[in-house]
Amino acid sequence: MTNYVTGSTIKQLREKKGYTQKQLADLLLVSDKAVSKWETQKGLPDISLLEPLAKVLSVSVAELLSGEYVTNRNRAGNMMRTKFYVCPVCGNVIHSMGEGSFSCCGILLPVLEAETTDETHSICVECIENDYYVTMNHPMRKDHFLSFFAYITPNQVQLKKLYPEQNPEARFFRTGQGILYAYCNQHGLFQINTAESQKNG
Ligand SMILES: [Fe+2]
Repeated sequence: MTNYVTGSTIKQLREKKGYTQKQLADLLLVSDKAVSKWETQKGLPDISLLEPLAKVLSVSVAELLSGEYVTNRNRAGNMMRTKFYVCPVCGNVIHSMGEGSFSCCGILLPVLEAETTDETHSICVECIENDYYVTMNHPMRKDHFLSFFAYITPNQVQLKKLYPEQNPEARFFRTGQGILYAYCNQHGLFQINTAESQKNG
């Protein structure tokens, strides 16, 4: 029989977090006997428990299932590898320093591929004092609106969440060359390099 999650993975991760079986059980609202069974391969956690289990063990469901988790590797993060994920159901915006596996409302979110701006999604940038003033001539109706602007440099992310009826604008403190993003709920993610935007005025 193939187990979708192994007892040794659960045990290792639990010990790494410093939880006793009882503490882990309490967090998941199951009995400590159940946890003991999982760890000794006498039982498997219910599928519905995988997400909460991964959460309390601070790993992704994928890591929990594969048993191959990334342990404090302290990889040098570079914001320029930033990825965005938007939940099509609730509109949740997830920003990640690299590609990952994220789900929301029961859906595994696809990574957004940014496009260069087009005529109807053109990001306008103005330098005002120490800021970039970013706008787009775009509807802000409930069914079609910009959901966020973001400005990303190698070591910083600034994100302005937008809602229908608001003005499609954001002000970001200038911290160097980077990428400006705008996300339209219907047409997706658009990007422009700040260097380019200044060339164009
Ligand atoms: Fe749009």
